[in-house]
Amino acid sequence: MIEFKNLNKSFGDRQILKDLNIDIPQGKIVFVLGMSGTGKSVLLKNIVGLLKPDSGEIWVDGFPVHEMSEKQMSQVRKICGMVFQQPALFDFIDVYENVAYGLRRHERLREEQIQERVVESLALVGLKGIEKKWPHELSYGMKKRVSLARTVALKPKILLFDEPTTGLDPISTSRVNELILDLSRKLGTTSIVVSHDMKSALSVADHIIVLDKGRMLSQGSPTDMRNSSEHLIQEFLQEV
Ligand SMILES: Nc1ncnc2c1ncn2[C@@H]1O[C@H](COP(=O)(O)OP(=O)(O)OP(=O)(O)O)[C@@H](O)[C@H]1O
Ligand SMILES: [Mg+2]
Repeated sequence: MIEFKNLNKSFGDRQILKDLNIDIPQGKIVFVLGMSGTGKSVLLKNIVGLLKPDSGEIWVDGFPVHEMSEKQMSQVRKICGMVFQQPALFDFIDVYENVAYGLRRHERLREEQIQERVVESLALVGLKGIEKKWPHELSYGMKKRVSLARTVALKPKILLFDEPTTGLDPISTSRVNELILDLSRKLGTTSIVVSHDMKSALSVADHIIVLDKGRMLSQGSPTDMRNSSEHLIQEFLQEV
């Protein structure tokens, strides 16, 4: 569903992503772990064309993203939902309209259908009944979950999560993890989850990739990670 071939990305003379080769099958949940500044967000932004690679290939559901124009990229963005690291809600509309935003733009639905999706998506992130609240009335964790609901409401084939549980309490964290699992099981959604959270990765991921300074340090199943002797992976495991 998503494939990177010999992907390289630099900013000026700083090379951020170094010769990455990654293959993500449909319906799988892949966690990408790594220290701050290692290039995880840059990797996600390359998938939806917010950044372009210097060399290498990126294939998304058969589309050659590395050679597509900005205009052609709308086809890819339709199937890829991205939940950004920083929750970005529109502060001039309420929660209902924030979650409905993409549905109104991209799909032709009746208002009852929109309402159904909004209510359902908010319930999935554990925020039932907050439709009438305004973004400024919400905590950081709530904003984060509303922005998750907004993306999930579109039921994209591919979901890209940039640190979806950072800053959330343990209960909200498990709920978000359950949501990612549920979407994969029920809708066959393919997910990439960028995270620092080895505990979530071990309980949710089919496959874990560990990046170190933009390079692939290691990849494998949760069991492979538990048994890894790599120093960095050991450090991540100590947090669990
Ligand atoms: N648009 C940009 N222009 C220049 N440098 C950038 C740009 N985006 C990211 N970088 C640099 O690329 C490096 C990797 O950034 P990235 O945001 O991918 O890190 P990260 O792994 O997501 O870290 P964190 O865990 O803190 O979110 C950083 O050094 C960052 O400063
Ligand atoms: Mg980041």
